[in-house]
Amino acid sequence: MAKILITGGYGQLGTALSEVLENEDILLTDSDSMDITDKDQVKKVFNEYKPDWLVHGAALTNVDGCEENPELADKVNHLGTKILAEQCKKSGVKMIYISTDYIFDGAKGAPYLEDDKPNPQSAYGRTKLEGEKDARSIVGAYVLRTSWVYGQGHNFVGAMLKLADKTDGIKVVNDQFGRPTYALDLAKAIRDVIKKQPPLPVVPAPSAVIPAEAGIYNVTGDGEIISWADFAKEIFELSGKDTKVTGISTEEYFKGNQDKKIAPRPAYSALDLSKSKKAGLSLRDWKEALAEYMAL
Ligand SMILES: NC(=O)c1ccc[n+]([C@@H]2O[C@H](COP(=O)([O-])OP(=O)(O)OC[C@H]3O[C@@H](n4cnc5c(N)ncnc54)[C@H](OP(=O)(O)O)[C@@H]3O)[C@@H](O)[C@H]2O)c1
Repeated sequence: MAKILITGGYGQLGTALSEVLENEDILLTDSDSMDITDKDQVKKVFNEYKPDWLVHGAALTNVDGCEENPELADKVNHLGTKILAEQCKKSGVKMIYISTDYIFDGAKGAPYLEDDKPNPQSAYGRTKLEGEKDARSIVGAYVLRTSWVYGQGHNFVGAMLKLADKTDGIKVVNDQFGRPTYALDLAKAIRDVIKKQPPLPVVPAPSAVIPAEAGIYNVTGDGEIISWADFAKEIFELSGKDTKVTGISTEEYFKGNQDKKIAPRPAYSALDLSKSKKAGLSLRDWKEALAEYMAL
């Protein structure tokens, strides 16, 4: 049985992975048990546990927080990943790195392909992209780019439901577009990457799903591309709340939050899913996943 080391083990994705991989040999870590910015601690954990795979989900994910403190964002998202990548190379460990739609500027106006040119607009996007480069320096590494993740932990769905308890009308931006991703579905795709190794049959049948070879894959919820305001409306519809959602522009949102440091976000960051579909790494429609999550 493969041994799987997981960073960000108690974050949204890590919690989902612990459920999906409950019958596997896994080690969940957090910043206490393995601070990814501490080379010695990383080395110690690798030498003791001897993993075959590293699923690297740890990151500073607060996009505005990263803008406030870009040095810290760089330390964790970039340099932390570099330390892990060096250790993976020394120990012969395959890394699955979780990246983000925020590495793009959003100007394309159509779903981004894996080989489209990144142009991050925020400290979060820049430091995650640097992390991608570190991950890709390992032979056989996977980079899974995802977007708008929700699961167990702090996320947009929870934030909307909390706000709805305090007010009956909410303003949400309606000019940033993408697709939500249920952490549990993303965790299942990660399990599939690990389980379907080694990949290619010698002569794959023409119609066969060809298991994912190492490289970059877009892995988000499938279905309609929506704005954050649309997402909020769906959340309230499913939760049976009467909260009114008023769509506002990003510009209006910035004007109303001048006291805070708000990171620029891509206006359109939906990711093209054709490659992941061919590789059998596609997720279900985000609406179906959200309904399941809301019914928990
Ligand atoms: N959330 C999204 O919408 C989204 C979208 C696209 C991509 N992603 C990517 O998907 C991955 C998983 O996201 P998520 O939503 O599950 O994140 P999350 O819930 O914020 O969890 C991230 C975890 O990283 C850990 N961490 C932070 N600094 C660390 C350090 N120095 N050493 C070790 N661990 C550290 C934290 O653990 P401690 O609490 O112990 O510090 C935290 O639990 C991330 O790589 C993120 O960039 C997320």
